[in-house]
Amino acid sequence: MSTTFRVNGVQQTVDVDPSKPLLWVIREQLALTGTKFGCGIAQCGACTVHIDGQAIRSCVTPISSVEGRDVTTIEGLSSQSGELHPVQQAWIDHQVPQCGYCQSGQIMSASALLASNPNPTDADIDAAMQGNICRCGMYGRIRNAIKAVDVASSEDKLFYNVASVDSESVTNSAEEVDHG
Ligand code: FES
Ligand code: FES
Repeated sequence: MSTTFRVNGVQQTVDVDPSKPLLWVIREQLALTGTKFGCGIAQCGACTVHIDGQAIRSCVTPISSVEGRDVTTIEGLSSQSGELHPVQQAWIDHQVPQCGYCQSGQIMSASALLASNPNPTDADIDAAMQGNICRCGMYGRIRNAIKAVDVASSEDKLFYNVASVDSESVTNSAEEVDHG
């Protein structure tokens, strides 16, 4: 069964089992490997992407549920010219990543938070980020980096730098991989 949706501004059609998680379609059919697998049960946040601007766990999101919707992955946050998303820049400025494994999920959650709440309190940050686990314990730096983003001066860059991407239609029907 095929599903058509947009990923980082580009229309995609994939022919896979409708129950296949979005995470594995992103990684296997679309070769966008910035989104990570951690737990597979919506407990760690490593697989976080945006659907229509909301942060969601792609490991428990069946591909059939994204029909006609807009998905943004970590690869779609920076601009076409390579300019980093303000959250990505803040992450660098505050030296947030250690091993890095959780970080694309952290950045996707933080960018969704700031797009909906430009001035989050500590409690807002804790609530929005509580589902993103960091085994390296970078929670303090994550909070500082979120607070450092100057939303007022970067509002036009907070979301959907990818919106102007052409609507090239790509069909991906690569064989599925059995995850056991
Ligand atoms: S891999 Fe999706 S929440 Fe852990
Ligand atoms: S930076 Fe290592 S798990 Fe978060």
